[in-house]
Amino acid sequence: MPLSYNKYLRVADLIELQGCLSDPAHHDELLFITIHQTYELWFKQVLHEIDAAIIAMDGDRVAVATRAIERVVEIEKILVTQIHLLETMTPLNFLGFRDELNPASGFQSMQFREIEFASGLRDDSILRAFHDDDFAHARLAARVEAPTLGDAFYSLLRRRGFDAPADGTTHTDAERLQLYGRRTRAVLEIITHFEDRYEEFKLAESLIAHDEYFSLWRLHHVKMVERMVGTKPGTGGSEGVGYLRTTLDKKFFPELWEARTYLDTKHGGAGCPFAK
Ligand code: HEM
Repeated sequence: MPLSYNKYLRVADLIELQGCLSDPAHHDELLFITIHQTYELWFKQVLHEIDAAIIAMDGDRVAVATRAIERVVEIEKILVTQIHLLETMTPLNFLGFRDELNPASGFQSMQFREIEFASGLRDDSILRAFHDDDFAHARLAARVEAPTLGDAFYSLLRRRGFDAPADGTTHTDAERLQLYGRRTRAVLEIITHFEDRYEEFKLAESLIAHDEYFSLWRLHHVKMVERMVGTKPGTGGSEGVGYLRTTLDKKFFPELWEARTYLDTKHGGAGCPFAK
């Protein structure tokens, strides 16, 4: 039999994967499952690109790394707008099957956490939350050990002559702040010399865009959640919207944001407390 579209993409298998729990099936549960599964497919692609970007940076292939992260950002733009499709469901429609979901929650999305970990937000308490899911726990534990996008970026900068030290596990808080300051200064140098350092500049811009659009997803998600369920606790057992608001300021690459603060029109870095 020659290859066909349906065979290649395993469409028959794919459209069997949306098993509704409500009985009789609530009309909107299919939308709810389809959106979540679509997110998980995009998360898989995002991780594929992040892993490729880390390998490319390690091999000094900056243009390849930048293109991978630019693709991540384009996917994230879709992820941000896609959240609002859920708002075509009325809050009452959602309550029609919400109880069936208990105690499952997006909080348990393994791949969402992998993206956070690989982008630099490694968190032991999140890892522990996966203690009863061996598959997810093993993948996340591997991500804790693996270099992050930030690790790969700053080691690339070091190889290119920048003073952008890595964080060591044995450092005190004061030493950590000092290392953070030196990395921030390296970023400032790239931004202020972007014509000479265009490769590094483009890569840094793609990384900050990844950070920005991931945060925008958080913001659009919390707004949609409040519109849907107000301040009810989440199915995952958190406070709900109150908890989600605490995540809005999380940053993957704080140095990239911080460096902007010390730019001025005359530049050189006047006013930067990290300047030598
Ligand atoms: C009607 C739709 C939705 C509602 C009412 C909702 C509600 C919530 C709530 C209340 C939380 C806090 C944790 C908890 O206690 O459950 C949460 C977390 C989360 N949700 Fe949703 N959600 C919805 C759709 C989605 C979709 C489509 C995704 C896409 C993957 C998603 C991904 C997540 C993630 C990743 C978290 C963890 C965020 C973090 O800890 O930073 N949610 N959601």
